[in-house]
Amino acid sequence: MSKLELQGVSFKYPRGKRLIFQNVSETFESGVLSSIEGESGAGKSTLLSLLSGLALPTRGRLLMDGEPIRDMTLYRREIAATVAQANHLFEGRTVLENVTYPMLLKGIDPASAKEKALALLSEVRLDSELASHFPSECSGGEQKRVAFARAMALDNPVILADEPTANLDKDAARVVAEILQSLAHTRGKLVIAATHDPFLAACADLRLFLHEGFLERR
Ligand SMILES: Nc1ncnc2c1ncn2[C@@H]1O[C@H](COP(=O)(O)OP(=O)(O)OP(=O)(O)O)[C@@H](O)[C@H]1O
Ligand SMILES: [Mg+2]
Repeated sequence: MSKLELQGVSFKYPRGKRLIFQNVSETFESGVLSSIEGESGAGKSTLLSLLSGLALPTRGRLLMDGEPIRDMTLYRREIAATVAQANHLFEGRTVLENVTYPMLLKGIDPASAKEKALALLSEVRLDSELASHFPSECSGGEQKRVAFARAMALDNPVILADEPTANLDKDAARVVAEILQSLAHTRGKLVIAATHDPFLAACADLRLFLHEGFLERR
């Protein structure tokens, strides 16, 4: 896949009073890191939910390579991988088990899953010693990197990250920004990050702002 397109998308939560977006159209491409900025409550996380197939537009469509996405379950499983703000790591499983989990679920044999997980942990610059630790034994920055390694496990072409540098110090934020850039530039992924962080936004190739329901390029 190379293009993900919002076409005339409006969205209102079922119990919400207002339209969060109005007629938003934008195209995201493989190999490009995009950032979405906006004030708190502007709708960044909601937009990521739409792009990840977790919420459906009230009006408008999501297209992949020019075709409307028909099977959202398949899209969520095989196309879009998400790193949530809170990571949602499995607390009772080790770092290694967190990363192998999606692969085992898909039926990949345990030895190959382990090998790939260790390679991913090294790619996100985590020491292999951490593999046997539990998430609670990792720093915030390390947990974030585990979440990225897990999101990369099935090699999905779209990676969506919600506030990936929130609560991280400068050095940890820089590592996360480098991971996002390498996903886009080296692995050719389509990467989108919602962020408050001007440093991360400045690392993006395409910088978007969400304001009063409109998405603008700047
Ligand atoms: N389930 C829901 N039902 C109704 N309204 C909701 C729901 N979830 C979020 N909202 C509202 O939608 C708006 C956008 O929320 P969203 O979480 O997308 O903003 P955000 O830009 O990610 O904010 P932040 O920077 O604080 O993370 C907010 O006004 C919020 O109150
Ligand atoms: Mg948010």
